[in-house]
Amino acid sequence: MMLLLILTACTSPGSAPTTASAAEVRYTQTCAVCHDQGVQGAPVPGVVEDWGFRLENSREDLYTNTILGVGEMPPRGACPDCTDAELRTIVDYMLRNVPAD
Ligand code: HEC
Repeated sequence: MMLLLILTACTSPGSAPTTASAAEVRYTQTCAVCHDQGVQGAPVPGVVEDWGFRLENSREDLYTNTILGVGEMPPRGACPDCTDAELRTIVDYMLRNVPAD
């Protein structure tokens, strides 16, 4: 019974523990150098104002801009060996504290 409860807790919708922490590691290794400090106007995760006008586009556009590069950001956020899927997960990780609409 206890085991069942634990399993249920781990599979609640929206939480993907392994992927999320992998994204966090990648973010820290490759994106944080610009995004933690807002280098060259990079939007800082968790700072809602930084993301406001960007979220007027769809999240799909944010993924595309990340993959192709935008403004001062190099293509793939300077992570040439990140896959598209990985980049999406990292963007989702960066937006975890920003209301999604
Ligand atoms: C060399 C510094 C730098 C690195 C490294 C970097 N970024 Fe950026 N990023 C920027 C800057 C600057 C902007 C703002 C671009 C603009 O709007 O002119 C930005 C914007 C973004 C945006 C918003 C795009 C939009 O459509 O407004 C996302 C999402 C993003 N970065 C994700 C990432 C991810 C994921 C990584 C790591 C894989 C990453 N960035 C690495 C500098 C960087």
